[in-house]
Amino acid sequence: MNDIDPWLWQGRRRRLLAHMTEHGGGIAILGTAPERERNRGTLYPYRADSYFYYLTGFTEPSAVVVLIADEMPRQFLFCRPKDELKESWTGYRFGTEKAAEQFGFDAAWPIDDLAKKLPELLAGQAVLWTNLAVDPDWDRVVFDALAVARTTARSEATVPQTVNELSVVLSEMRLIKDEHELALMRRAGEISGKAHQAAMRAAASGRFEYALEAELLRVFRAGGCQYPAYPSIVASGPNACVLHYDVNSRLMLDGELVLIDAGGELDGYASDITRTFPVNGRFSGAQRDLYQLVLDANKAARDEARPGQDWNAPHTAAVRVLTEGLRTLGLLSGELDDLIEAAAYKRFYIHHTGHWLGLDVHDVGQYKIDGKWRQFVPGMSFTVEPGLYIRPAEDIPEAFWNTGIRIEDNVVITETGHEVLTDSAPREIADIEACMA
Ligand code: GLY
Ligand code: MN
Ligand code: MN
Repeated sequence: MNDIDPWLWQGRRRRLLAHMTEHGGGIAILGTAPERERNRGTLYPYRADSYFYYLTGFTEPSAVVVLIADEMPRQFLFCRPKDELKESWTGYRFGTEKAAEQFGFDAAWPIDDLAKKLPELLAGQAVLWTNLAVDPDWDRVVFDALAVARTTARSEATVPQTVNELSVVLSEMRLIKDEHELALMRRAGEISGKAHQAAMRAAASGRFEYALEAELLRVFRAGGCQYPAYPSIVASGPNACVLHYDVNSRLMLDGELVLIDAGGELDGYASDITRTFPVNGRFSGAQRDLYQLVLDANKAARDEARPGQDWNAPHTAAVRVLTEGLRTLGLLSGELDDLIEAAAYKRFYIHHTGHWLGLDVHDVGQYKIDGKWRQFVPGMSFTVEPGLYIRPAEDIPEAFWNTGIRIEDNVVITETGHEVLTDSAPREIADIEACMA
């Protein structure tokens, strides 16, 4: 992370504090993700908790944010103190003073003081905001602090009588992306699209799927992405019909398609792109027909992405185009409306046309409000990812067997419609063939 803007992070916390004040005030406490061992003495690459990161911008492990919403709202951080010896093993730490200054806190304390200080902070607060029943270790921290607060609180002090799930309000905040987030998501989309271009250029009969994965990882990292946003899927031939295939170990053959679902994560923000292309650089007749159909569904779905339209409209549009096309190709027979009503497409398309996108690849935020699909408003970001997956079956012409096609783009709702974040990944047949030529 280069330029840290304390106002950005402090501003998000102020918005949360304002919400808390409107709903009974109280204290919010939220820890970041724990470090996890991969095998003896080595850890998985560390990734901060998305809610914690959204509020703090702080990416070190062993940290807790505390917000107090009373007449004088306060923002505190617990984090690792400076430690010359430990830093010479595992690298730079902000330490309490620098962390408070850089990330806009009123004060920061050593994480080892948490158990002592938390009960003091809790005493006298009527409402507690936190996320319970996600991580038992975190539940323990909260319950232990409450237990101490209960036994030591002065008689006139109270312990919280109400616990509010913090993720509910934070998820709604995260659903609407601000300019800082959109700039990162645009850049993540741009880099990831270029990674798909590199993978297309590297495809050839007789190469392994992992050779394309290596291209993806190279371009993600060279572009500044810290990690892939999720395990990259490089699925050739029949593997493309396995939605979450990520072994990427098969030899690719002439005449097959390869489906790549991969995106980089930039400063916490995910890109999530799928492209499907021929190993040899030229679509065959049956591949072309199916690909164009999925592309038409992708366009029809994107056309529904505008303010006021409801969440499910892109899916409904995609399903209509896919069902119509499957009829034309002879893969479904019957009246269009009857087939849609009966969800006949589910034989070839079992997933939804999208999901929210942001700090988490499957980002937070409700899809329905009071039982009704919610309406798009500017700043919402999501994927549009129709597909068709055709396994061998007696009643299906052999030319279509083992064909899996998905075309996944990322969009954000604007004042007038939407912006596509993933145009750098070729999508049209002619553009893919030109990229691979
Ligand atoms: N890459 C996971 C998804 O498309 O939802
Ligand atoms: Mn995907
Ligand atoms: Mn997706």
